[in-house]
Amino acid sequence: MALLIKNGTVVTADETFAADVLIEGSTIREVRAGIPANGHTVVDASGLLVLPGGVDAHTHLDMPFGGTTSADDFETGTRAAAIGGTTTIVDFAIQARGTKMRNALDTWWKKAEGKACIDYGLHMIVTDLGTSGLEDMDDMVREGVASFKLFMAYPNVLMVDDATIFKALKQTAKNGALVCMHAENGSVIDVIVQQTLAEGKTAPVYHALTRPTTAEAEAVHRAIALAEIAGAPVYIVHLSSEDALNQVREARDRGLPAFAETCPQYLLLSIEDQMPGKSFDEAKYVFTPPLRKKKNQAKLWDGLKQDHLQVVSTDHCPFCFADQKALGKDDFTKIPNGGPGIENRMQLIHHHGVNAGRLSLNRFVEITSTAPARIFGMYPRKGTIAAGSDADIVLWGPKEKHTISAATHNMRVDYSMFEGFEVVGNARQVYSRGELIVENGKYIGKAGRGTYLRRDARGGAWC
Ligand code: URP
Ligand code: ZN
Ligand code: ZN
Repeated sequence: MALLIKNGTVVTADETFAADVLIEGSTIREVRAGIPANGHTVVDASGLLVLPGGVDAHTHLDMPFGGTTSADDFETGTRAAAIGGTTTIVDFAIQARGTKMRNALDTWWKKAEGKACIDYGLHMIVTDLGTSGLEDMDDMVREGVASFKLFMAYPNVLMVDDATIFKALKQTAKNGALVCMHAENGSVIDVIVQQTLAEGKTAPVYHALTRPTTAEAEAVHRAIALAEIAGAPVYIVHLSSEDALNQVREARDRGLPAFAETCPQYLLLSIEDQMPGKSFDEAKYVFTPPLRKKKNQAKLWDGLKQDHLQVVSTDHCPFCFADQKALGKDDFTKIPNGGPGIENRMQLIHHHGVNAGRLSLNRFVEITSTAPARIFGMYPRKGTIAAGSDADIVLWGPKEKHTISAATHNMRVDYSMFEGFEVVGNARQVYSRGELIVENGKYIGKAGRGTYLRRDARGGAWC
């Protein structure tokens, strides 16, 4: 028996139209007005928007980092994602220095096994190309790992030099994968950090004050320049500032295949509001790149509208305040970097983007679902509502009110970065490959039902 979603308003990146959606098994079969009921199970979507499930291309579940491990595992993190209307994530496996990427892939598959509630892909964080790293990259592409993250920050931990970045970019020019760049000048930041600590400045706000926007812009510029020389596309992750955005815009204006994402925290939070430098509570907002001055927010929203930025992802990397952020009580460099957000991305961008008149509904769908699916090689299986696509569908109540709070959220972390934020618009029902997995804020699917996505290495072909 098929499932028929009737009377809803379908929203894709291109169109908004009244239509019914017929689902057979895990796949969308037909999208048009007036599909007859014909004994199908009918779901009445009157008054609801029928959206493609959200795609969050940047999450860190069960990730060892900063002397601890991110608080959400693949079960709690993907469950929270689903409740918020996200049906696909792309997480990061980390190559340990001196080891094969395949070991990391196996480790991350095991982390997800029996736990993932929604479908997931994996990027590979490259820490070392060694002697066989380039072949390793090709090996990963064959396994559906169609993107690699490299770090220009975190010296002695994850940072790689320009030669490594350039070699990786050249390899992706051949194998079609996409390099994702953490773009901050880590060496310069390290000098500023050491000077600041030597002056006795140890509070959380100094994490932000030691990472100037120019250090981000310089690295974005360098990443794009290296990609241009290599003849490869590049994707800048978690872009946080106007200075950095200007570099991406300039490159795109020249026709280069440079892409970038930002995150809700950079669009909605600021140094002025969240980090006045008064208490250790501000450790809740220690992530990298850091929060910026408020004046950057309007520029980032405008960048999303104008397609200088293509994607909003979360960089979900939760650490509990009580026992994890507290590691840095006397030294901001010991605060684990990262913040939670996987559950709230769709609500926040719908409310502050669409309701606030900054984005059309179609652009909302594009930046939260369609564009990440395309860029990361999952389109049209994910990221749209069309015959043949996976039936990953969110029935969205555009008028539903919700107050974000750690007291009620589903992420396994003891605070919310958006505590008390009131949003209008929320997921009423969520389907993943045709299965109803969320109903009125409750996850009703099984853990482990999510499957690994083998992604196509063709992100760079899309611009
Ligand atoms: O602070 C952050 N962003 N933590 C996660 C790791 C990263 O750089 O994305
Ligand atoms: Zn990063
Ligand atoms: Zn990240």
